[in-house]
Amino acid sequence: MGIDNASLDSRLERILFDQGKIRQCIAEMGKRISEDYEGGDLTIVAVLQGGVLFLADLIREIRLPLRMDSISVASYHGGTSSSGTVTFHQTRLPEVEGRDVIVLDDILDSGRTLAAILDRIRTECRPRSLRSAVLLSKRVERAVPVEADYCGFEIGDEFVVGYGLDYRGEYRNLPVIGVLRREWIDEGI
Ligand code: IMP
Ligand code: MG
Repeated sequence: MGIDNASLDSRLERILFDQGKIRQCIAEMGKRISEDYEGGDLTIVAVLQGGVLFLADLIREIRLPLRMDSISVASYHGGTSSSGTVTFHQTRLPEVEGRDVIVLDDILDSGRTLAAILDRIRTECRPRSLRSAVLLSKRVERAVPVEADYCGFEIGDEFVVGYGLDYRGEYRNLPVIGVLRREWIDEGI
């Protein structure tokens, strides 16, 4: 049988952001975006799969007509630190020529993922404008110089799960964001 929600929660050593905090932060970001893009032609491009929950909640806080799209990449390949390579899982890129694009990801860490996506969209999709939004940003030295235009929370250099963020494909459905207990991290394999 699968693990129930209570036992999933108990795998967290510490909760960093509960549902209320996340909701409030996203509401504020949505309000800012609504003001900034008034009269624009907005497309939000979510980075799969981690950005899905953030996308779903953020677009409902944006009071403007908009389109949504997605792009699928991986940079972790199962562990708790960035692999250094960004793999695009699809050849189809979002159709956003002449549009105002915000690329949305769950977390900014080394910067490689966001930089690679922004670069491809800028050069291959010809948007009118291009910005980025992340729910979390790690306070670390970036491997690539990139910062998000909209950022929810800054955190230290620790591995977090929940609200879209996974460890080996799991924990994305946790409604809170927290630090996984060491005993649930298996770095060996
Ligand atoms: P970057 O390319 O190193 O900036 O990493 C960004 C990607 O790595 C994000 O899209 C996440 O999928 C993943 N990632 C980075 N830090 C964490 C974390 O603490 N928990 C889960 N996934 C993370
Ligand atoms: Mg990701």
